[in-house]
Amino acid sequence: MGIDFDSTNLLAGMVGPENGLTPKEWRDASPSAANALKSFRKSYEAGDYGFPDLPFQTRLVKELQRHARQMQGSYDTVCLVGIGGSALGAWALDCALRGPHPVQKPFSKSHPRLVVLDNVDPDLVMAALEAMEPKKTVVVVIAKSGATAETVANFLLVREWLESKLGRKAAQRIVAVTSEDRGELKVLATNEGYSTFHIPGNVGGRFSVLSAVGLLPAALLGIDIAKLCRGAAEMTDACWKASLDKNIALRAALNHYLIWTGKNKPIQVAFPYSNRLWGVAFWFRQLWAESLGKARTRAGETVNIGQTPVAALGATDQHSQVQLYIEGPNDKVYTFWTVRRRSSPGRLPKQKLGVESMDYLAGQSLEKLLDAEQRSTAAALTENNRPNGCFALDRLDEAHLGAFLQLLEFKTAFVGELLNINAFDQEGVELGKRFTFGLMGRSGFDSYRERLADYEKRQNQARRMR
Ligand code: PA5
Repeated sequence: MGIDFDSTNLLAGMVGPENGLTPKEWRDASPSAANALKSFRKSYEAGDYGFPDLPFQTRLVKELQRHARQMQGSYDTVCLVGIGGSALGAWALDCALRGPHPVQKPFSKSHPRLVVLDNVDPDLVMAALEAMEPKKTVVVVIAKSGATAETVANFLLVREWLESKLGRKAAQRIVAVTSEDRGELKVLATNEGYSTFHIPGNVGGRFSVLSAVGLLPAALLGIDIAKLCRGAAEMTDACWKASLDKNIALRAALNHYLIWTGKNKPIQVAFPYSNRLWGVAFWFRQLWAESLGKARTRAGETVNIGQTPVAALGATDQHSQVQLYIEGPNDKVYTFWTVRRRSSPGRLPKQKLGVESMDYLAGQSLEKLLDAEQRSTAAALTENNRPNGCFALDRLDEAHLGAFLQLLEFKTAFVGELLNINAFDQEGVELGKRFTFGLMGRSGFDSYRERLADYEKRQNQARRMR
C-alpha cells in the first residue's frame, strides 16, 4: 500500500533530545509496542472492538451498492442527518474523493451533492430546507444511540418537510442507520417502513466510517465503496503485524506516544497539505480527542490525560498559524499529511512577464509549489527543534483513503493501549447529552436538570461576589 510514515524529524538527532527520540529511548520502548498490539488483539478477539472487521464486510458492501443503485437517478441531494461520528466520516469521504467544498462539480441527479445537517443552528437547517427539493432528496438519518437530541430534532424537521410535499411517499426517501437492538430511531424506522442498515454494537461512532454510517452516504454519492474497503482491508492486515517495520500504524503510534508523553507535547497538529484531506482532518480531530481524552486508566487511576488535536491546512495556515508554531511554546508535535501525485499538477503558464518576483514560477506547477511549501515548513519547524512526522500517500483514491482511515484508527487504538486507557468509551460526551435531555424536558433526566439548576445557582452567587 502506497502510504509511508517518515519519522526522521521526530529523532533527537534532528530536534534535540529534549524534543526528539534517542536510539536508546526507541529501543527501550519497542517491547511496549508489542504489548500494545497483543492486548488490543486480545480485546478484539474477545469481540470488544469491531472496527478492524469493517473492511471485510463484502455482503454489506453489496447490499449498500444495490440500495444505492435502486435509488440512483431519483435524487440530486443526499441529506445526512447525524452528528459527530455519525456525520464526520461521510463528509471526509465526500471531500477527499469528490473534491473539496465548494468547488465540486455542479450538483445534478448524476452528480448528487452531500448536505450534512449535524448542527442544530437554525441558520443552517432552515436554509438547507429551502435549498433542497423534497422530490430530489434522499435523507439518511444516522444515530447509533437512536436518541441524540441534535439528530432527533433535525430529523423531525426534515421528516415533516418531506411529508408535507410527498405525503406517504416520504418514507421511501428516508434511510435510517442505527443500532439493531436499541434506540427509538430503530422503532420509528420499523413503524414507518424506512429502509434500515445497522451499526454493529462493538463499533463506536468515531470508528464507524467503514460501516453503513460512512459507506451508505458514500455509495449514494457514487463513491466506489468496494475499493475503499479493499484498501482498508489491506491496511488492516498490515496493522496486525508484529514487526514495527511492517506495521506503519504501530510504528507511528509508538513514535507519537513517546513524543507526547516523554517530551511533553500536549498538542498535536494534524497538518494536511491537501484541501481534499481537510475533511479527514476534522474526522481525525474527533477520533483522537474522544478516544484519548480520558479521566482514568483502565486500572481506575485518575490521570485526566489527553492530547489536544488541532487541524491546520497547508499551505493556507502557514499564513495564519505557523508563526505560533515556530516561535511560540514548544508544546506541539506536528503530523504532516501529503499526497505525492495529485489529480492535476496545476501547471503554471510558461510565459514570463519580465517581473523577477513572478518569473521564477513560469512553467512550474502548483503541485511542486505545495510540495516545496510543506518541505520548507518541516525544515523550519525542525530548525527550531519542533518535532514533526509525515504521512505521505502516493495518491488520493478510494484504496489509499480507505487504508489511511484504517491506519489512523489503528494508530489511535494502539496509543490507547500504550496509555492503558479505554479508547472506545466516551463518558464525557454522554454527560453533556444527558444535561441537554434534562434541560429540554426529556423524562427520566430530571436529576440532570437539577444538577444544572445547582450549577446555575452557583454561577449567580459567583457573579454577585465579583
Ligand atoms: O464517537 C462517538 O460515539 C460519538 O461522538 C457519537 O458519534 C456522537 O455522539 C453521535 O452519537 P449517535 O450516533 O448516537 O447520534
